[in-house]
Amino acid sequence: MLAREGAKVVVNDLGGGPAGGGSDVSVAAQVVEEIRARGGEAVANHDNVATMEGGERIIKTALTSFGRLDILVNNAGIVRPRIIYNMSESDWDDVIDVHLKGHFSTVRFAAPIFREQKSGVIVNTASESGLGHLGQSSYSAAKEGIIGFTRTIARDLGRHNVRCNAIRPRAATRLFNEEALAAMQRTRNLLGNAGALGAGSNPLDDKPEQVAPLVVWLCTDAAANVNGRTFVVGGDMIGIYPEPAPERVIVREGGWDLDALDRIAGNQLTNGLCNEFSGAK
Ligand SMILES: NC(=O)c1ccc[n+]([C@@H]2O[C@H](COP(=O)([O-])OP(=O)(O)OC[C@H]3O[C@@H](n4cnc5c(N)ncnc54)[C@H](O)[C@@H]3O)[C@@H](O)[C@H]2O)c1
Repeated sequence: MLAREGAKVVVNDLGGGPAGGGSDVSVAAQVVEEIRARGGEAVANHDNVATMEGGERIIKTALTSFGRLDILVNNAGIVRPRIIYNMSESDWDDVIDVHLKGHFSTVRFAAPIFREQKSGVIVNTASESGLGHLGQSSYSAAKEGIIGFTRTIARDLGRHNVRCNAIRPRAATRLFNEEALAAMQRTRNLLGNAGALGAGSNPLDDKPEQVAPLVVWLCTDAAANVNGRTFVVGGDMIGIYPEPAPERVIVREGGWDLDALDRIAGNQLTNGLCNEFSGAK
């Protein structure tokens, strides 16, 4: 869609499996072919975003191929769902590296260019899994890390007329299969409300094509006042998340001790809360 709207595109894709193994150059090449067949301009890049060298080469590919860089969309991802007591160090590291470091590795090399030219747009890819998704602790941690990263990049670069926003997309891709949906539905059942994960559309009916317009719009001047924000997008639905702030605040002169917490906090701070995260079997 970016190409259709006139962008010259570097299509980066390692072409690995959904859990991160292997690589296949034909994946990016096929997208480039599709773009060219429709009259657009694109080049393929197969670097690994989980490395700094990979991130640097991706950004350099834009400069050497097209002479400039205006838009960076961070979208690479893998999943290794494991309940926390079965999660290995490598499962954890690999997921954090592709998502969280994979955002840093490209932004780090795009940032000086954007700062110098006093313009640029970044769209990052988080996930509703960050809200708390059974068996996805590595993925959730990386994705919520990306939200915090987005806010800070929005401040670091906002002063230089650069914007950085994040999306929590939904689409029935190979990452979001029946197994992932079952885990999400279990989490929703446990949450006991429809207010968060996956509510508002049926993820298995949602298509990547329905995510693209928001991403492209965020890259246009029409979104000039949108910086540091997080969106959810799936099917016909788009939502914007509030920025977190404490729900209730209590202050006690001289500070808190356990007795004071027992006496007051239960009434004034946590009264009425239900432990919606418990119940995982
Ligand atoms: N599909 C959903 O419902 C959903 C929900 C929330 C978030 N997301 C996020 O959306 C993004 C896109 O996922 P998708 O659903 O299109 O899945 P996908 O598997 O079709 O696409 C992910 C792509 O990332 C590439 N990739 C993986 N590791 C890489 C690396 N180290 N370097 C370069 N490329 C790499 C893969 O080769 C793959 O083509 C991911 O960040 C994912 O976490 C998807």
